[in-house]
Amino acid sequence: MPDSDAARRARPKVPTELIRKTEEVVRSKLHNESTGHDWWHADRVRSTAVRIAREESADAFVVELAALLHDVEDFKFSGSEDTGPRFAGDFLLSIGVAEQDANHVAEIIRNISFKGARVEPAPLSLEGRCIQDADRLDAIGAIGIARTFAYGGYKKRPIHDPDVAPVAHDSVRSYLDTKGTTINHFHEKLLLLRERMNTEFGRKLAEERHRFMEEFLAEFESEWSGER
Ligand code: NI
Repeated sequence: MPDSDAARRARPKVPTELIRKTEEVVRSKLHNESTGHDWWHADRVRSTAVRIAREESADAFVVELAALLHDVEDFKFSGSEDTGPRFAGDFLLSIGVAEQDANHVAEIIRNISFKGARVEPAPLSLEGRCIQDADRLDAIGAIGIARTFAYGGYKKRPIHDPDVAPVAHDSVRSYLDTKGTTINHFHEKLLLLRERMNTEFGRKLAEERHRFMEEFLAEFESEWSGER
């Protein structure tokens, strides 16, 4: 795992040109994406991840690059766990990012995805933990709710079926192949994320978003049952 302290000491200023080129490729790949993994998701994750990185004294350059690239060629869509990390690593090398940083970004992207409630998470560097928190924060709260229904529609999942119970998935396959409902997805994944935040600051940001989702689900339930 790269030494973050040494990387930061050696990098007094973030190379903005490399960030700009990275934004450009991400924007071209994710522009108008309709499942909630669009350019604006990458942009929000980048902003939040960099905020968390500052609090955590992580390498902000690696965090920014990996946050921007984290959903390009994601395995949910490409069907391969290697495509995304390989694309990110090759792209960064092609624009002149140092090999150590390109490899670190590729490793982060390989390891940050959520793969089911009972699947053992991969070990992450400090920079990876910042991005994972930012990605999880974008999956909860008001934006998380909007993205969840967009993704559910893409996966042809019913919005809600009171006869279908939530499942704790114990393999990546079962998690990806689930035929469950979008409302169950809150119980199978989104409500678990607050407890899974890696950083103190991330946990703080998760509180309000978590509370908002609970409120939304309570309101949904009361409208559904005819109480309102
Ligand atoms: Ni993401």
